[in-house]
Amino acid sequence: MKGRRKSHSSATRLVKKLWGGRFTKTAEEWVDEFGASIPFDQELVEEDIEGSLAHATMLGECGILPEDDVEQIKGGLIRLLEKAKQGELEFSIAYEDIHLNIEKMLIDDIGPVGGKLHTGRSRNDQVATDMHLYLRKRVEEILGLIRGLQRALVAQAEKHVETIMPGYTHLQRAQPISFAHHLLAYFWMLERDYERFSESQKRINKSPLGAGALAGTTFPINRHRTAELLGFADIYENSLDAVSDRDFIIEFLSNSSMLMMHLSRLAEELILWSSQEFQFIELDDAFATGSSIMPQKKNPDMAELIRGKTGRVYGHLMAMLTVMKGLPLAYNKDMQEDKEGMFDTVKTVVGSLKIFAGMIETMNVRTDVMERATKQDFSNATELADYLAAKGVPFREAHEIVGKLVLHCIEQGVFLADLPLDVYKEASPLFEEDIYDALHPRTAVNRRNSAGGTGFAEVRAALAKAKQLLSTP
Ligand code: ARG
Repeated sequence: MKGRRKSHSSATRLVKKLWGGRFTKTAEEWVDEFGASIPFDQELVEEDIEGSLAHATMLGECGILPEDDVEQIKGGLIRLLEKAKQGELEFSIAYEDIHLNIEKMLIDDIGPVGGKLHTGRSRNDQVATDMHLYLRKRVEEILGLIRGLQRALVAQAEKHVETIMPGYTHLQRAQPISFAHHLLAYFWMLERDYERFSESQKRINKSPLGAGALAGTTFPINRHRTAELLGFADIYENSLDAVSDRDFIIEFLSNSSMLMMHLSRLAEELILWSSQEFQFIELDDAFATGSSIMPQKKNPDMAELIRGKTGRVYGHLMAMLTVMKGLPLAYNKDMQEDKEGMFDTVKTVVGSLKIFAGMIETMNVRTDVMERATKQDFSNATELADYLAAKGVPFREAHEIVGKLVLHCIEQGVFLADLPLDVYKEASPLFEEDIYDALHPRTAVNRRNSAGGTGFAEVRAALAKAKQLLSTP
């Protein structure tokens, strides 16, 4: 098996297992295949070798293995790492997983001394170490991509502070808002995602290595040294916990689910906004596709796919919570199921974030259509109620008065700005000529300068804060 696709050799059944001492017969090939993780855990090849290099170094330093043996082992491992980076390693189902495949290759290369590498360690602490190393790297990448999407949102927001659009509740027009304000809402959601992922690094960045199979080891190893060599901030306190903890993966899946939920909501808005009914935006051709039958179509496929892929990430989270819920301490083979969902989630999240940044950067905003929409509804009704309330009318009464005016408009087929002043005066003598200015959507937006509101000044202040956040490392 080379790379990800190639199938294993048919000689599997005859191969002697590295753990085969107490066995009198070998499993059938199809049973081996069912139990093997190498088809997917080869993704961990580099982390596996890096972990082994640190372990071997420590074994030498602690006098557990002679330096000469350690040099041979490390030489062999480095050769394997180079080959791995070139995609030149051939994996075999017969050796079950990435750990045994690498160990076998090492022994083939340097001889029986390669068999000393596994001194004072188990595949149980080894696989956990690999996963920690892998996720640490991927979370770093995801953090960078979240920042990238936030940058794209800020860049669009800067252009659209004074672009006004209908704001919605219940998907009914509610009050007009600044388009930048709407975009920045997603900036702050992503900021929470950023925080969650970055706080999770504290738990990911701990070393399980040296916990052995479950109970520690009789060899005088130095766990702090391997942790240091691998750049871990700390070690797991308890050996049983070290090998059987998958919280850090579940937490990653949970953080990813939340992030995908946010992306999915924005995807839904882009889909709505680019529909014929809204026409608020047009997605760049690069992120849309046509129909094979209807020549006029331009479909927001990428946004739809991201909305759809959210489902599989939630699925991986549910799967892992369920895999773990009944497991006694310590390692159980069930835990091998932690990998595919995690790899798939990494791929999905990384891909979605990249696509999203591109979509936001390149979308064309139809400011005229957005603004026109704010003038053709009753989303300025709150302005009238606020107007009366500011003049001392209890808000509840003001609400009632304006409600009646809206009803009157609906009956007459006009909007609030179309009513003559005497109709207003009849409803309440407190109405004056200046209500027409208050009714203007642009005024309505700009007056909402309470902290975190959509007023232009507030939005500018929020933009400055967002940019400041992006510029602090
Ligand atoms: N392939 C295994 C996994 O992914 C590695 C650990 C195997 N340990 C064991 N005791 N069988 O979980």
